[in-house]
Amino acid sequence: MQIIKTVEEMQRVARGLGRKGTLGLVPTMGALHEGHLSLVRRARSECDAVVATIFVNPLQFGANEDLDKYPRTFEADCEQLDGERVDILFAPAPEEMYRPGATTTVDVGAVGARLDGASRPGHFMGVATVVAKLFHIAMPDRAYFGQKDAAQLAVIRQMARDLNFCLEVVGCPIVRDEDGLALSSRNRYLTAEERNRALILPRTLAAIEEQIRAGVRDSELLTNSQVPELEATSDIAFDYLAIVDPDTLLPEAEAVPGTLIAIAAKVGNTRLIDNLIVG
Ligand code: PAJ
Repeated sequence: MQIIKTVEEMQRVARGLGRKGTLGLVPTMGALHEGHLSLVRRARSECDAVVATIFVNPLQFGANEDLDKYPRTFEADCEQLDGERVDILFAPAPEEMYRPGATTTVDVGAVGARLDGASRPGHFMGVATVVAKLFHIAMPDRAYFGQKDAAQLAVIRQMARDLNFCLEVVGCPIVRDEDGLALSSRNRYLTAEERNRALILPRTLAAIEEQIRAGVRDSELLTNSQVPELEATSDIAFDYLAIVDPDTLLPEAEAVPGTLIAIAAKVGNTRLIDNLIVG
């Protein structure tokens, strides 16, 4: 695996790879786990060359968020990516990605202000900006993102459509731990006790799924069956439980196949998200 740190070299190499076959891009912030690796494997199985990126993007972190303490495990990440036969790892420094004087950002509009965008103002501007840059730098044919970050996926699809990026955005299923908790780099912040509490997220989704299976479709009924308890649980700081269209993130009156059910809560100091698509 070749490690590239500069934009100029990445663009030069990407242009060469692009001439030889299809190129798959897997953007990450590192601290890799099986969720990330599932994207890498999918890219490996569908593309001639695979570029993974590791960049903890300062632009998508709010002032009081965890930019400084975000886990950085570069050596272990490299080993894992190499083990998955990634061709290139692009891992630029912040000063390389954001040159002094850079002022352009990407604003995807209303979709970027819904769900996590409502709770984390400016977050999706940061995500859209860095992903647009990575698309220009790596020039992939396909780019792989996890369904785990469902609102992020909606934002990236919107951006790719609106700005005519000539690539396919591929959404990949959520990878979970044995106990049902969705894998996340931030799970390593959790104490054993917090981790236990965090299971309320997948449990809530499972309870709603169960009701849908039993024939309940009305979104208000479905959320009302869970929200009072979530709000009353002092163990967590409940943020949202939403039944929405997966592309626009706008509320849906009924949960039908394809509808997105998303949940977010803070457990201790750690903000966690999870979701499911109605089957
Ligand atoms: P990061 O949180 O490192 O996630 C990188 C990719 O892995 C995202 O597409 C995310 O949805 C996916 N992913 C994370 N956990 C997953 C899981 N349990 N199952 C499946 N996929 C999972 O998301 C980001 O980084 C950043 O916002 C980024 C897109 C790289 C832009 O900075």
